[in-house]
Amino acid sequence: MTIKEVQNEIFRLKKENDICILAHSYQAREIIEVADFSGDSYALSKLAKTAPNRTVIMCGVRFMAETVKMLSPDKKVILSHPDAGCPMAEQMDVDFISQMKEMYPDYTVVAYINTTTALKTVCDVCVTSSSAVKIVKQLENNNILFVPDCNLGAFVQKQIPEKNIKLVQGGCPTHAAITEKEAQKAKADHPNALLLVHPECRPAVSEMADYVGSTSGIMDYAVNSDQKEFIIGTENSIAEHLQYLCPDKRFYALSKELICPNMKLTTLVDVLNCCKGVGGDEILLEPEMIEKARKCIDAMIALGG
Ligand code: 13P
Ligand code: SF4
Repeated sequence: MTIKEVQNEIFRLKKENDICILAHSYQAREIIEVADFSGDSYALSKLAKTAPNRTVIMCGVRFMAETVKMLSPDKKVILSHPDAGCPMAEQMDVDFISQMKEMYPDYTVVAYINTTTALKTVCDVCVTSSSAVKIVKQLENNNILFVPDCNLGAFVQKQIPEKNIKLVQGGCPTHAAITEKEAQKAKADHPNALLLVHPECRPAVSEMADYVGSTSGIMDYAVNSDQKEFIIGTENSIAEHLQYLCPDKRFYALSKELICPNMKLTTLVDVLNCCKGVGGDEILLEPEMIEKARKCIDAMIALGG
């Protein structure tokens, strides 16, 4: 089958089986094309609440599908590839956070959404990369324990110096691997390009950037800018999507290594199989777990607008 034929079959099955396909922006172009909505983690969380369909296929990683299930527990939620996890989400467990809470009893625990459902049960509020600064600013408590991404936490801290933000060592292995030296080299190779990076990059890299923001933030910035050249400091799929959106501009990957192996697991045929009711992984969560964990997602949506 050609890509077009597979896509047409997906469109037909979506209609027949009342399916909504959500795709994170790191997915391949042919998957984004069959999705009802694509975007960053925050946009997808909000859409998860409002999608009218009975079944949602989440093309992304496990914590994203779990977020959809928590917000729409009556829907059938399928993760597009059973092995697509986010290593950052597995870095801290409930016992670790419980110990931290004992050490810092008067701190509000802010969890990046890239965490497991279990971990969310012991946190106060979730944030995504695009909503973190806005949400932390609004918290009454000035003492914040930020988990698990110390790079995103450091970025938030810089924007809100009046808050006392405690960071814990953790983060995205893909973004955190980018060094200051690589960023310097990319800038030297492309002296006319603006550097746009995701806040999961190390502070030394973010400090060199012309713009720091979520995947959607980076895409909006590049599309709306009058500039013609950009170095993209996030998953390389974003540079590819931007090249299609803006054929008259030039996009350079900050590093050849900026590839998330988990986001790359899902293929268009996996999506077709999910639409047929085979393949993927149905997300099943205990109702008590959902009740405890979704509080911090509801708090995020209430504060994030
Ligand atoms: P966004 O908040 O930009 O969607 O980031 C999700 C992610 O996993 C980045 O690595
Ligand atoms: Fe997780 Fe990093 Fe992949 Fe995002 S890019 S899903 S944070 S491993």
